[in-house]
Amino acid sequence: MPLLPQMLHEQLAATPAGRLPFEQVMELALYHPEHGYYGAGPRRIGREGDFFTSVSVGSLFGKLLAMRALQEWEAQGEPEDFTIIEQGGHDGQLAEDILSTVGDRPVRYLIVEPNPRYREAQTKRLGSRVRWVENLAALRSGPKHGFFLCNELPDAFPVHLVRWSGERWEELFVEADGTEAFRFVPGDCSNDELEEEVKHLPHDLETGHTLEINLAMLRWIRELAQAAFRGAIFIADYGLDAEEFFADSRAGGTIRRYRQHQMDGHVLEDLGGCDLTTHINFTRLIAEALRHGLVEREYDLQGRVLGRMAMPWLQSFEGRPLDAAMMRQFNSLTHPAFMGRSFRCLILEKPAR
Ligand SMILES: C[S@@+](CC[C@H](N)C(=O)[O-])C[C@H]1O[C@@H](n2cnc3c(N)ncnc32)[C@H](O)[C@@H]1O
Repeated sequence: MPLLPQMLHEQLAATPAGRLPFEQVMELALYHPEHGYYGAGPRRIGREGDFFTSVSVGSLFGKLLAMRALQEWEAQGEPEDFTIIEQGGHDGQLAEDILSTVGDRPVRYLIVEPNPRYREAQTKRLGSRVRWVENLAALRSGPKHGFFLCNELPDAFPVHLVRWSGERWEELFVEADGTEAFRFVPGDCSNDELEEEVKHLPHDLETGHTLEINLAMLRWIRELAQAAFRGAIFIADYGLDAEEFFADSRAGGTIRRYRQHQMDGHVLEDLGGCDLTTHINFTRLIAEALRHGLVEREYDLQGRVLGRMAMPWLQSFEGRPLDAAMMRQFNSLTHPAFMGRSFRCLILEKPAR
């Protein structure tokens, strides 16, 4: 048996009821430092990897983000400590793309990166132009001016699964199925925070309707709101509004596993060998952000947000031939049939702390 499922069997056997919340299983599968899908070090993203992201499409995404960050820098009066802060920087590709547009402007770049293997890969690519912190708590003491960005970060946070029984919301736990495999089993919510979230879910759904609750995302946005910088927060991810999660067509939830560009719902199989990911609930994220002092500036389909951000770049082609390769990237990022509709962008204004 591969090591990670074996470790999970051992962990399950060590619990009193022989089961663990799915959130802990997802944490293990993605972030175990040796055998987790992400924990073990940056995987290839793109054609040769398991999935594409806007970063893997090409350098245009970074160019547009750099232009947006530079607008913020200028709007704040070009302060000396202005810092572009990225979280989920993976192998450093997006940082490289952004920095090539920033050029020699005196703008700093900081990556929030807890995993030393990722820091190593990022250092190799980016050298001394970048600094690192391990977590968001380190941003409480500075910088004072910034532009925070992340692409496909909260979709990779471990989530709890809950299922409507017809009478109440129950949490889904994972247990051994008697063979080498695992199965879901319902039970009471494993913690108070989850219990509180579940209180706000509707009751008029079909029996068996399953949803993900991303408590880590709520903790994350609260933590980000405590950072010292004033400026903007740019979040791009695939996600939905709250009501879309309750549609009968989504009764199975949005949790999926990805491997070699194949996607399915067998999320308890090949643990550690596949990416596990969910759509994020933007309605819930925005509500939590506003409750903690952040201000919604823009929330829309990625196609529309990047379309607006790209206007100065598109205008720069006036009288010159279009760059065909870059236009193909623009199409992939913004066309509704590609990434334009399934991805959404949220831009928040962040006051100083
Ligand atoms: C779907 S990948 C996206 C990678 C990259 N941003 C892109 O768009 O190509 C998710 C990334 O988030 C990282 N990640 C997850 N939790 C994190 C955390 N708390 N801090 C920093 N990175 C994190 C993972 O290691 C992984 O590199």
